[in-house]
Amino acid sequence: MVPFLDLTRQYKRIEDEILTAQRRVLEKGRFILGEEVSAFEVEFAHYCGVRYGVGVGSGTDALFLALKAAGIGEGDEVITVSHSFIAGAIAISMTGAKPVFVDIDPETYTMDPSELEYLLKKRKRRNRVKAILPVHLYGQPAEMKPLMEITNRYHLFLIEDACQAHGAEYQGKKAGSLGLLGCFSFYPTKNLGAYGDGGMVVTDDKKLYDKVRLLRCYGEKKKYEHVLKGGNSRLDEIQAAILRVKLKYLDLWNGERRRKALAYKRMLESTEVVCPVEKEQARHVYHLFVIRTKRRNALQAFLKEKGIGTLIHYPTPIHIQKAYRELGYRKGDLPVTEKHAQEVLSLPFFPELTTEEMGKVNEEIKSFFREGEKG
Ligand SMILES: Cc1ncc(COP(=O)(O)O)c(C=O)c1O
Repeated sequence: MVPFLDLTRQYKRIEDEILTAQRRVLEKGRFILGEEVSAFEVEFAHYCGVRYGVGVGSGTDALFLALKAAGIGEGDEVITVSHSFIAGAIAISMTGAKPVFVDIDPETYTMDPSELEYLLKKRKRRNRVKAILPVHLYGQPAEMKPLMEITNRYHLFLIEDACQAHGAEYQGKKAGSLGLLGCFSFYPTKNLGAYGDGGMVVTDDKKLYDKVRLLRCYGEKKKYEHVLKGGNSRLDEIQAAILRVKLKYLDLWNGERRRKALAYKRMLESTEVVCPVEKEQARHVYHLFVIRTKRRNALQAFLKEKGIGTLIHYPTPIHIQKAYRELGYRKGDLPVTEKHAQEVLSLPFFPELTTEEMGKVNEEIKSFFREGEKG
């Protein structure tokens, strides 16, 4: 059996430190917005190369609060991708704005800058578009240079969905630090994952930082003095203490992911599967190792039979999900997105995956294609 993901192996590596950190919080008796959250905000912002971080309840909330802080709301449109987890689109909808989808680059699976430009030119009412929300999908940084040029030219905000890209880099800068605001999730499976929900907004902009801080906690400026209608979305002390331990290991674990990704690529070179690419200006952190093949469903079923866990990220693009029916998209509107949704397959992948397990995955993939040739 090769599991798709086994989080207990990582826990075993750092068990003592985690238990010590948790005990520290329990013994102090402060669970909400205390020293651990403040310290982790400083440490994670520093790691990302930005001035400020605000710990929030989840990645979805990080996206929602970042958009809200930028002033996005009713009547606005935000351009994002459809080949992603639905949270980005949901966060846009939560502000009252409308998500508009653009196709992805066939090689990097991230927002295609030329498609974005085409969409902006084509849109008659483009003055409604206020922001773009690219996603650094699977740990692969989006093509930020052309995206930044376009957003400057059209006077749009650029907010990054870096929920799958802790530690990824583009031209030497960390994902999340290139746009106006960067949004992270600490969902347990992420490269930097808590043992529960959590998220963070990072930015260099003091005004936006102050606004996100107000929005995450009832718009409270001082105790019981409320200056705007904020909600409740706070990273908690126990999760922050856990994340402070794990942050120290993030570069080590990302390095292990990168080495394993390279090993998979070498093993699978001789097969017909398409492996992830790494662009010259990008440092991919392989949140997932996603291959593509036209025979995806058959391969997935074959691997399942052999005891190998795989997942599909994501089988149905957002623009054709029932939840977004009112937007009026049809099949065929985003051809690259739709083609990829039929072909992508995420292989077992995490820093603690063993060489033997990877060898077994490789062997079975090869045997699947050999049988296909015979059959
Ligand atoms: C690309 C992307 N955006 C947003 C989210 C939402 O994060 P969360 O689950 O912490 O709300 C996730 C992860 O779940 C994600 O993968």
